[in-house]
Amino acid sequence: MADTQTEGRAVWLGTDNFIECIMSNAVPTADSLRHFLQLQDLSTDELLYVLERAKLIKDKFKRYEPHRPLHDRTLAMVFEKASTRTRVSFEAGMYQMGGSVIHLTTTDSQLGRSEPIEDTARVVSRMVDIVMIRTFEQTRLETFAAHSRVPVINGLTNEFHPCQILADVFTYIEARGSLTGKIVAWVGDANNMAYTWIQAAELLGFTLHVSTPTGYVLQQKRLSSVKTGVVKEFADPHEACKGAHLVTTDVWTSMGYESENEERRTAFADWCVDQDMMAQATPEALFMHCLPAHRGEEVAAAVIDGPQSVVWDEVENRLHVQKALMEFLLLGRLS
Ligand code: CP
Ligand code: NVA
Repeated sequence: MADTQTEGRAVWLGTDNFIECIMSNAVPTADSLRHFLQLQDLSTDELLYVLERAKLIKDKFKRYEPHRPLHDRTLAMVFEKASTRTRVSFEAGMYQMGGSVIHLTTTDSQLGRSEPIEDTARVVSRMVDIVMIRTFEQTRLETFAAHSRVPVINGLTNEFHPCQILADVFTYIEARGSLTGKIVAWVGDANNMAYTWIQAAELLGFTLHVSTPTGYVLQQKRLSSVKTGVVKEFADPHEACKGAHLVTTDVWTSMGYESENEERRTAFADWCVDQDMMAQATPEALFMHCLPAHRGEEVAAAVIDGPQSVVWDEVENRLHVQKALMEFLLLGRLS
């Protein structure tokens, strides 16, 4: 079949091209098709554009001013892991922009009955304009994207959670201004969030202090392309928080690793962000957590519910940054 991806929604090329493609067996490819599989799929300039656009979209939202550039567009959301925030923010965001949403999970789709991910991508992307997928391995997401005719967004994989970091950097900038030259402290697991913070540090020019328990450290092979000095590792989480402008953490056990729960509870016992740890940071430091949180494990209630915590702004900002992201992937830069 002769179709093209260049306009976001696949369109017919017309009779001449249709016949040409049948004769040559060619499938037109899309130079302009953009996915968001990891944060570094955006350049620094594009990231700043999306953040600026998110600010405009948020301001309009607060004024009840309609912003519906995605009228008649459809988002498919594919969840192979649980979600509250990602589902609500993408679903509400797409409706608010004038589009509609289809929600699929492993259990209520043929994915749960072993339909290949490649075929699922081919099928879904024939009928919608953009896809968000939350899944396990990054390679599974990449396979989906390679067989999709429409933009694909990473809604969390084992390796990365770029939509969350978009919201986190937006939240910091909104509250305190530029992150460039600052220090962000990551306390806890070397997980999808930690690796996405590393990409943010490279894109925005800040330093990431990382403290993880022995046995749960960052993988050196995943740091090999990271510029020297961007990431500094600390055995003691208090040391990591020294001089930080932002302290952030996440669950000790991410989705998909539940069988390690008991051993992690022991290993991570000293990696609870409490008031002592926050006292090491700069006086104006913020606390963030992507949520869901476990008070008394990775964070003390006094911190997450305290004055330095911006977790509720952080969660709301998922809505605004993802609207800006979908707008960018489907419509490009708007003046
Ligand atoms: N932070 C985040 O992605 O939350 P959910 O798992 O609820 O989507
Ligand atoms: N690291 C966590 C983030 C949840 C939003 C996980 O992958 O489960």
